[in-house]
Amino acid sequence: MFTLHNGDGIQFMRSLQSQSIGAIITDPPYGLDFQGESWDSFIPEWIAEARRVAKIVAFTTAPTTQWDYPRPEWVNNWYRAGSTSRTSAGGFNHWSPVLVYGKVKFMVDTYVTAAALTGMQNKGIEHPSPKDLGLYRWLIDNTSSEGETILDPFMGSGTTGVAALHLKRVFIGCELKAEYFAVAEKRIKSAALSPALFTPSNNRVQRTGGESGQQNLFSAGEVLPAKVTRQSTRR
Ligand SMILES: C[S@@+](CC[C@H](N)C(=O)[O-])C[C@H]1O[C@@H](n2cnc3c(N)ncnc32)[C@H](O)[C@@H]1O
Repeated sequence: MFTLHNGDGIQFMRSLQSQSIGAIITDPPYGLDFQGESWDSFIPEWIAEARRVAKIVAFTTAPTTQWDYPRPEWVNNWYRAGSTSRTSAGGFNHWSPVLVYGKVKFMVDTYVTAAALTGMQNKGIEHPSPKDLGLYRWLIDNTSSEGETILDPFMGSGTTGVAALHLKRVFIGCELKAEYFAVAEKRIKSAALSPALFTPSNNRVQRTGGESGQQNLFSAGEVLPAKVTRQSTRR
């Protein structure tokens, strides 16, 4: 089951009840002007609201930006073996911290990605920074159980949603930009239609409104006990 929202993820979280989400697994803007993208020009104020609505919050950020967040309960590490070396000037590195709030059952603290594999896997995804699918499967697997709800308030091309559906979680995703939302919607619908997941309990499709063309809120199942407000995609 999944619900996708083409709008502001922070505003969406404000509409949710406290502790109503199993885990927020996300990849927020780092505030590093990645490829000159306007959405990456600052770190939004989202973490307090995320901690209010979710039992666990886990997300990637850059080595230099982890200090912009409150002290986490744990820090994990996403290591990209073989990726192009970056310098301090760019604010990126071969590794990224994964900040974790809440009690989790992590068994190991490092997830290693073969950069070439991620490159192949992400070919054709129309987003400047699609993340590694295996990383998000690992995060979801270690922070939640089957049937629990995963929210990604900054879903980009929808990687978290694909991983969540693979692992039989309920997924809710928000993305501000209509063009990225369309990419996420396509990927997530496709993941939902994979035979292993196509069961009578999760194959209902209901359109509940939209701003980008006809479809900015796509629902295949239940919506949380929350009011979803339509948002502008402009910033
Ligand atoms: C780092 S990218 C996420 C990439 C994603 N993990 C993937 O694999 O494609 C962050 C995304 O957050 C979106 N964004 C920024 N501010 C937002 C907001 N307030 N609400 C919803 N989405 C937002 C951006 O448009 C961008 O696509």
